[in-house]
Amino acid sequence: MTTVGTLIDTQGRVLRDLRISVTDRCNLRCVYCMPVDGVAWLPRADVLTYEEIVRVARIALGLGVTGIRLTGGEPTVRAGLEVLVRALRDLDPALDLSLTTNGLKLAAMAGVLRQAGLTRINVSLDTLDRARFRQIARRDRLHEILAGLEAAKRAGFSPIKVNAVLMRGFNEDEAVPLARWAREQGYELRFVEWMPLDSQRSWSTERLVPAAEILAALQREFPLDRVPGTDPSAPAELHRYRDGGGTVGVIASVTRPFCERCDRIRLTADGQVRTCLFAHEEHDLRGALRRGASDEEIGGLLKAAAWRKEPGHLINQPAFQQPARGMSRIGG
Ligand code: GTP
Ligand code: 5AD
Ligand code: SF4
Repeated sequence: MTTVGTLIDTQGRVLRDLRISVTDRCNLRCVYCMPVDGVAWLPRADVLTYEEIVRVARIALGLGVTGIRLTGGEPTVRAGLEVLVRALRDLDPALDLSLTTNGLKLAAMAGVLRQAGLTRINVSLDTLDRARFRQIARRDRLHEILAGLEAAKRAGFSPIKVNAVLMRGFNEDEAVPLARWAREQGYELRFVEWMPLDSQRSWSTERLVPAAEILAALQREFPLDRVPGTDPSAPAELHRYRDGGGTVGVIASVTRPFCERCDRIRLTADGQVRTCLFAHEEHDLRGALRRGASDEEIGGLLKAAAWRKEPGHLINQPAFQQPARGMSRIGG
């Protein structure tokens, strides 16, 4: 059924990027993601142990995975994250091992994570205005994120990417200020289109700020040229500042879907394999792990899941239905 040794799907896409959510919990409550009271957390017993995660990762590396990204919820709220990073690094010195974080805990953790073998960090930040930050993330903690970014720089992470979600009525006018700041600080900024994955189901096209609008605003201030990225399966479309100020990206999941290039497969904190952000079907690995399945069986489950990867999402079509699992339980 599947090519021996790789995670391949019916469209011929080879899955090399494994995104592992280590927790569904978060220390922020961004309006585009979670309701004010959060969502019911997963029972502790349902969450994979670090040993279980490392085992799946080892098997996945044997099947051609070359990059692992740790996500959440907010991954740094899980105790001992550096222990997991070290164990994953020990699997393969060449692994592209990255973290997507809201940055709140980086001031304390950046150095430790780097020493443990983390290679790259992406930080989510949607505004530079304190009052707006409080409105969007529902916590008054912007200064901690800025300190976390500084700490990541000091620890030697490079590149440091910043993900910003713009929403109409909240921060749609911040494309240029964010870009100016990121250029000055040396961060690779990417604007992410808001996707229908929020737990409170408030997504609407009226609130979405399309990538084309963001790029037009940027162009007026800083002339840009579209450039090819180094990784053809990366979701970000890159644009270079003509004055040499680096690059800025857009992740236009809604208005310019990139599903046909997608090489991602996800493991949720509770041990379910998801082959698309918008999947309605999950593949249970936790049950197999806890029933004593062999590496071959686990590998077989991963390959079978990969084979069934959805060709793409249906966001712009009438048949679209938001998946039951929200972003904070998938990990982005
Ligand atoms: P790099 O390896 O640094 O390119 O990371 P990345 O951009 O893949 O990861 P990151 O976690 O920083 O994701 C940035 C944004 O892209 C987030 O909002 C993700 O939800 C979104 N994203 C990541 N993977 C996918 C995907 O498979 N499909 C879609 N539509 N969006 C994705
Ligand atoms: N649409 C787009 N991006 C989202 N994120 C969280 N929820 C959404 C959504 N509904 C982003 C976060 C973070 C990454 C993990 O996903 O801002 O950058
Ligand atoms: Fe937390 Fe990230 Fe969701 Fe914000 S977007 S509430 S930081 S999981």
